[in-house]
Amino acid sequence: MIDRDLAAGLAERFGTPLYLYDAGCLEARARALLEAVPRGSRILYSFKANPLPAVAEVLRRAGCDAEVSSAGELAAALAAGYAPGGLLFTGPGKTEEELAGALETGVRRFSCESWTELERLDAAAARLAATAEVLLRINPEVPPRARLAMGGGASRFGFEPPALAGRGVRLRGLRRLRILGVHVYHGTQIPAESLAATFESGLRLAEELAEALDLDWRIVDLGGGFPWPFAAAGEGPGAGELRGALAVVAGHSWRRPAPEAWFESGRFLAASSGTLVTRVLDVRDSGGKRFVIVDAGINHLGGMSGLGRLARPDITFQPVRPGEPAGEVDVVGPLCTPLDVLACGARLPDCDPGDLLCVPNTGAYGLTASLVGFLSRRPPAEVVHREGSVLAVHRLRHGYETAADRQRDYVRHAQP
Ligand SMILES: Cc1ncc(COP(=O)(O)O)c(C=O)c1O
Repeated sequence: MIDRDLAAGLAERFGTPLYLYDAGCLEARARALLEAVPRGSRILYSFKANPLPAVAEVLRRAGCDAEVSSAGELAAALAAGYAPGGLLFTGPGKTEEELAGALETGVRRFSCESWTELERLDAAAARLAATAEVLLRINPEVPPRARLAMGGGASRFGFEPPALAGRGVRLRGLRRLRILGVHVYHGTQIPAESLAATFESGLRLAEELAEALDLDWRIVDLGGGFPWPFAAAGEGPGAGELRGALAVVAGHSWRRPAPEAWFESGRFLAASSGTLVTRVLDVRDSGGKRFVIVDAGINHLGGMSGLGRLARPDITFQPVRPGEPAGEVDVVGPLCTPLDVLACGARLPDCDPGDLLCVPNTGAYGLTASLVGFLSRRPPAEVVHREGSVLAVHRLRHGYETAADRQRDYVRHAQP
């Protein structure tokens, strides 16, 4: 658990709810992954897990590259000091505007998910007299054992391998694109013991496609899905376990020239750094149940789980004022909906209004994966610190833009 005095001191200074991110934890996770992957591999930080520039900057300095999936993530990556030429632009349904904007900014590497996207990118590159480098995202035929599988069977993500077989001529006809490799992302929260099999299946796919298209790959992006608990106490795999899982990649003997191996990670790199500090607003007994009402809700944490779209996480609340568990309570947020529930039957010491509670492992898919606009409450401050010494303070803004704001942005964008 985070140091209690540190959490209380920063909560006093920046108010609650408050997201704290520990730079030392980010560095430790980056080190563990970088030391576990085969020599010459790259680790790409996935901005979707936490786009806060100060978080991403720590990971960049620790040796991670990055992948982004929108113009907003691209802007965050630039703010974090990433060079656009080293970024990978990923994700389904990229618009013409996004592709053109990314190319203009200097991004050259894209993961493409369909023929439509390839042709859209080729056309955008031609208009700018640029050349783009492409990884073909492949939908693996076998679904992985993951909490949230993102491939295998029917999927919106990536090419089905048979749709590419024998289509080398069509690929070579895309004059502004250089096809550099393949990208396979199986899913998130893959159990440590299934990682090796998942990477093996990605390697097999890459080999089969290279043969079917008669192409040599320079890059094989095997995705990741490296696991870490979400908003619950505990830890993910350590350096030794990761090294074991990644040995299949280091030991793979390629029939064609060996490509660079790339891996992506959001959750594993960022989750452990984060602690959400929330204050108890009220304690109420009703119908034989005790409700602890806190100032963080599903607008700040795990919004999609809050709506029942995903399995509800087993959120751990750690009281800043220590004490023995006194009974079971429901911890609920301050929003005007019965869906704003963070934990049912949590075992907590007696709480009073004003007490602080901490939720560990909230550095990934915390604030920006939540329903931040719902009820228009001010987003919490986000603070990156090193042993309590503050490195950066940010606050996400939301509000409405008018047609005039949009026009101003457009004119600024159109004038280099
Ligand atoms: C293509 C892609 N890469 C990387 C990630 C990050 O995954 P994780 O946070 O499990 O590392 C995701 C998550 O959805 C993804 O879709």
